[in-house]
This record gives sequence, structure tokens and C-alpha cells, in this order.
Amino acid sequence: MKIFLADVQATLDLGIKLGQTLTPGSVILLEGDLGAGKTTLVQGVGQGLGITESIVSPTFTLINEYTQGRIPLYHLDLYRLEPQEVAALNLESYWEASEIEPGIVAIEWAQRMPYQPDTYLRVRLTNEDNGNRQAKITALHCNINELIAKI
Ligand SMILES: Nc1ncnc2c1ncn2[C@@H]1O[C@H](COP(=O)(O)OP(=O)(O)OP(=O)(O)O)[C@@H](O)[C@H]1O
Ligand SMILES: [Mg+2]
Repeated sequence: MKIFLADVQATLDLGIKLGQTLTPGSVILLEGDLGAGKTTLVQGVGQGLGITESIVSPTFTLINEYTQGRIPLYHLDLYRLEPQEVAALNLESYWEASEIEPGIVAIEWAQRMPYQPDTYLRVRLTNEDNGNRQAKITALHCNINELIAKI
């Protein structure tokens, strides 16, 4: 599914709907060039979950956790990592959630991941030269009909 994102609020609104709808254990893999709007979308997810803390890019911290909302939000950014380093991170511990409370896992620069969870939402954000921004959402091995109905 393709969604046209006319302005920052449109990107936030898409994230808000995801934050309101997704269930614990959901993984959002965010792909897109520098400045495509990945962090903005996660800020929307945070709003949709009811998180009032400001959500900042975990480019240096790698992961930020927000536990204030409906369910936890785990926000990761793999920008600075090589695929071998990503492999060593044991990312599955976030979606398997054996030692943490299950929540939404949102991963920026997911194209750096050498492996993916069994089910996930892939959100590819593009920002064309003419200023057109778009999100292309694909559900991998999961059913998002209910979700799509709300978007
Ligand atoms: N739909 C939109 N229309 C116009 N501007 C937008 C839109 N979405 C996001 N932006 C703006 O684009 C800039 C970059 O957004 P953001 O930081 O979310 O991108 P990013 O993909 O996370 O970047 P990075 O690759 O550095 O992590 C911000 O100033 C943001 O407000
Ligand atoms: Mg970012």
C-alpha cells in the first residue's frame, strides 16, 4: 500500500495510527534514505501510544525505550552499524521479548539487518527530488487488513 505524505503532519498521522493499532510484539522495519522521515514516523507511533516524552533519534544510543504509553516502544537506529555488528546485537530479543515486556519495535535503517523477524511491517519512505514524499507499507507474513482499514 502506498500513502502520499504531503507534510510532516501526514507522516506523524501515519505513525499515530500504527501506534494506536499495533499489538505487542509488532515490528516496524523502517527503510529510506537520510532524512526520509523515519524518526518522524516513530514520533507519531509514540504519540499514538500516548507517550508524551519527546522521541529523539537513537543514532548514537542505538536504542531508546519508552514505557509510558499503552505498550512499550523500543526505538532502534542501525545507521552507524555494519551488518556483522547488527548480527551481534541479538535483535530478536526485542521481538521475542523473553526478558522484556512485549511492545512495538521500530527499527530505522532496517536495510542493515542481516535477518528479519518472522512477521513484520516494512515501511519504505521515499523523498523524491520534486519534494514528493511517500510511504510504501508491506506486511510480511502478517495480516494488516484491519490496520489498513484504519489508515
Ligand atoms: N512528510 C513530510 N513532509 C515534509 N517534511 C517532512 C515529512 N516527514 C518528515 N519531514 C521532515 O524531514 C526531516 C527529516 O526527518 P527525519 O529525521 O524523520 O528523517 P529520518 O529518515 O529519520 O532521517 P535519518 O536518516 O537522519 O535518521 C525533518 O525535518 C522532518 O520534520
Ligand atoms: Mg532518523
